[in-house]
Amino acid sequence: MIKELEVFTSATSFQEDEMRGKTAVMIDVLRASSTIVTALANGAKGVIPVADMGAGSKISQSMDTENILLCGEKDGEKIEGYDLGNSPFEYTPELVNGKTIILNTTNGTKALMRASHARHITVGSFLNLGSVVEYLKDKERIILVCAGWRGRLSLEDLLCAGNIIYELTSGELPDTAFDGAKVAFGLYEKFGDDIEKTVLSSNHAHRLQDIVGTEDLSYCSRVNAMDVLPVMKEGIITDFHGKEK
Ligand code: MLT
Repeated sequence: MIKELEVFTSATSFQEDEMRGKTAVMIDVLRASSTIVTALANGAKGVIPVADMGAGSKISQSMDTENILLCGEKDGEKIEGYDLGNSPFEYTPELVNGKTIILNTTNGTKALMRASHARHITVGSFLNLGSVVEYLKDKERIILVCAGWRGRLSLEDLLCAGNIIYELTSGELPDTAFDGAKVAFGLYEKFGDDIEKTVLSSNHAHRLQDIVGTEDLSYCSRVNAMDVLPVMKEGIITDFHGKEK
């Protein structure tokens, strides 16, 4: 039974202490969540999110370099010297199978770090929406943490949060839903009939289109393509049950 259901609209829109005792779902549709889900589906051993480049290089130096990949982006572009950027298409089985990914992104990994006081943390995207909804079914205090963009709301993240809430509540918002959850739910009711079109109309889609084209955007709009359930424990995200349908 859901006792609390809330949506935070960006990585900086909440106090870290607010996460205590909650189940958090970090959502960064374009593209950190979708990339994490894809990396795990393609056999990555785990993903270690980091807040910035300094943390990324520190962790990578402390690990066996053969089995790690230093990955991520800044403002949508691959960081110089990194093994991979943040396009899910880069995370092929050939490259990521058995590897631990250290991931540093503009908003998504920061949102994960800021949510790290939560009791349970998972990663949500359209790609693994069904797995996340199943996972949330026995949780009582749920916060969907949208990564957004530099403190601002992102349409695609809020739409995904609304879709998760809609499926979780079978289309009936409980009285315990907070305002953020109501807004996300309403957004999904209005625009959920064409996820890809809505994602493509978002500010970050326009930003990315100039850098990487539209392939990533369409890919990240696919609903329920993978059974991956990324769960973060002690700083590492691993898959509870991952295989592509
Ligand atoms: C982020 O963390 O802000 C994103 O995932 C950016 C991107 O690579 O599209």
